[in-house]
Amino acid sequence: DMGGHDTYMHKEIHEQADAVDRVLRGRIDDRFSTVHLGGLNLDAREARQIRRVKILGCGTSYHAGMIGAQMIEELARIPADAEPASEFRYRNAVVDPDTLYVAVSQSGETYDVLAAVQELKRKGARVFGIVNVVGSAIAREADAGIYVHAGPEVCVVSTKCFTNTTVAFALLALHLGRTRDLSVRDGKRIIEGLRKLPAQITEILDREEEIKKLAEQYAGARSMLFIGRVRGYPVAREASLKLKEVSYIHAEAYPASELKHGPLALIEPALPTVAIVPDDDLLEKNRAAMEEIKARSGRILAVAHQNQEKADQTIVIPKNEDELDPILMGIPLQLLAYHTALTLGRDIDKPRNLAKSVTVE
Ligand code: M6R
Repeated sequence: DMGGHDTYMHKEIHEQADAVDRVLRGRIDDRFSTVHLGGLNLDAREARQIRRVKILGCGTSYHAGMIGAQMIEELARIPADAEPASEFRYRNAVVDPDTLYVAVSQSGETYDVLAAVQELKRKGARVFGIVNVVGSAIAREADAGIYVHAGPEVCVVSTKCFTNTTVAFALLALHLGRTRDLSVRDGKRIIEGLRKLPAQITEILDREEEIKKLAEQYAGARSMLFIGRVRGYPVAREASLKLKEVSYIHAEAYPASELKHGPLALIEPALPTVAIVPDDDLLEKNRAAMEEIKARSGRILAVAHQNQEKADQTIVIPKNEDELDPILMGIPLQLLAYHTALTLGRDIDKPRNLAKSVTVE
């Protein structure tokens, strides 16, 4: 049932405010400015013993994991990084008992992730799952975990589950942070930010007409570049994947800081750039990157918290706490990918050559 929408992708994009509401529900503890995660089975002493966090997932779940790793480093000050589960399992990685491994999967059935989890468990590691489908293989195999409660996601192209997974990571980061050095004050600040998310998502989705017009302008591009820096970089990666999957337009994501180390050679009017420009401590650096692109007559579409003079167009979105901004910044670009695909007449819910869950090697 598409509930009045023409595609599941459109329906699922518009379900995100409710979905985020669900992942937060019943988990916030205002008294101690933290969150309760029932399925975690981790007491404070164990939480404090974690020396590293390694996040494993594929595709969109890997990108959500990249955002999660940054949140864990920022809020809990535990070294954290994300890696494609497929790469991890083939490189005979060192498995360390003081590392918390986190497997991320919408379906809970992705073979590469499941195989990584099984190998980790065989070596005695502690593995958490951040999964959408309740009772799925990865959920069952993991020692503990967090369900993301995005609800059923039918479209092959993941949208609402990505957003909910990033929120689940914010909860995990806050929880770990509050067993360590994150202050009550910062805990409160993050909780207030989390509570603002559903209304801010609605605010972004209300700009759909404007984004649709932009998509119609960019649909003729043969290729697009997505740039972001630190918090913006995983957002750029995910937006680039969305565009490729659903519109078949070639897209590439780069850290904005790496532009001058190669990709600047590509800049010309026919290669538009989408720049992720949060209003954080890196704003001036991102402006400088846009200036370099403009100087080479590149076109720029910015996603930002205020209008960007260096960009040809800006999609202005609401500001949250710096650490939580990545949860919101990709949402207008889901709509951009959707409307680009619609303009090009693509098979939106079932892009060619792809399956919803990849249960083979
Ligand atoms: O079900 P999973 O989250 O484990 O799936 C992982 C990827 O196959 C998936 O995210 C894929 O990249 C999507 N088609 C993204 O839209």
